Amino acid sequence: SSTTEGGRSISEGFSTLITNIGELVTNDPGAADLLGVVEDAALVVEGSAVAWVGRAADAPAADERVDVGGRAVLPGFVDSHSHLVFAGDRAQEFAARMAGESYAAGGIRTTVAATRAATDEQLTSHVARLVAEMRAQGTTTVEIKSGYGLSVRDEARSLAVARQFTEETTFLGAHVVPEGVTPEEYVALVTGPMLEAAAPYARWVDAFCERGAFDADQARAVLEAGAARGLRGRLHANQLGPGPGVRLAAELGLVAVDHCTYLEDADVDALRESGTIATLLPGVEFSTRQPYPDARRLLDAGVRVALASDCNPGSCFTSSLPLCIALAVREMGMTPAEAVHAATSMGARALDREDVGVLVPGRRADLMILDAPTHVHLAYRPGVPLVRGVWLAGRPL
Ligand code: NIG
Ligand code: FE
Repeated sequence: SSTTEGGRSISEGFSTLITNIGELVTNDPGAADLLGVVEDAALVVEGSAVAWVGRAADAPAADERVDVGGRAVLPGFVDSHSHLVFAGDRAQEFAARMAGESYAAGGIRTTVAATRAATDEQLTSHVARLVAEMRAQGTTTVEIKSGYGLSVRDEARSLAVARQFTEETTFLGAHVVPEGVTPEEYVALVTGPMLEAAAPYARWVDAFCERGAFDADQARAVLEAGAARGLRGRLHANQLGPGPGVRLAAELGLVAVDHCTYLEDADVDALRESGTIATLLPGVEFSTRQPYPDARRLLDAGVRVALASDCNPGSCFTSSLPLCIALAVREMGMTPAEAVHAATSMGARALDREDVGVLVPGRRADLMILDAPTHVHLAYRPGVPLVRGVWLAGRPL
């Protein structure tokens, strides 16, 4: 990103040397270790991108110098699964669940009623608040789904709101069948007029393939219609029980399939063979008191694993990837390094993004500074707000 004028190198962007980094997590895929850790490190940001990474002692000069005092620096979290566009809350449903009720997908309809009644401004300010929460906890890229509108108008405006905050928007008209229509009528609406209205604001199409929501044929129809309209597919599957969703995702060669809580051996084999990423959402099992997905089994089988928040008002109202990392390490057999990698580099891959999740020259300078010496502290100090600073596209927030 520099040009030469009269023999002098002129940088297009102001450069900043971030130095005295105790541990720098680069996620460099060429490194010997999973996280590509550099100790006693420095990093140069130029414009919006990383320009140089290495040992602090070897660092080049820059326009500005920031000393982080031996703290750890990591790529910003890439949260590849959230449902932030909604109104109201379901705190009473949560309380009832903690008193013994079980989670059911039907609760989604409560949020649909509140979302339809909200103004665009209310939805926008609510998303802004949740995105700010995420940023404060280290998330620099977030995927946001629709799915609480479930009408042509409300799905389209949900996505228009989401688009103000991220390029990673997902049309989830196929969340549940709303009241007053048959499943057949609703799938026809989702794959027809609703898709037409939503597609201009969406990059992805998703469906909730689960008993009580959509079966495999319906989910396939939604993903195929979306693909014909230029949207790439992702899927909610095997959250509440075993089912065909994970195998459908593998068969269609989707980049990611999310939840993956109840898996049979054939599902694990299909994921390994297709390379489809299993995105695990441990905040859901925490908040619904369900058994956690077995990350260790997936990793040992050679399946690629990402972690995401699934932030939504029903099954999991957390915006915190540090919490998800702590749960994945404590409850799902992941090492701290695997969990951090899954919430950064693998989150980026689950969104098919090359530019984020990795801190090497040429990639976007989206990063966090921890009030801790290493990434391990994210799991070792659960519940403690360790994210001290966040940089987005080369600038501190
Ligand atoms: O990812 N699984 C479907 N959708 C959400 C839950 C939505 C809700 O309960 O409101 C999820 O868990
Ligand atoms: Fe979800």
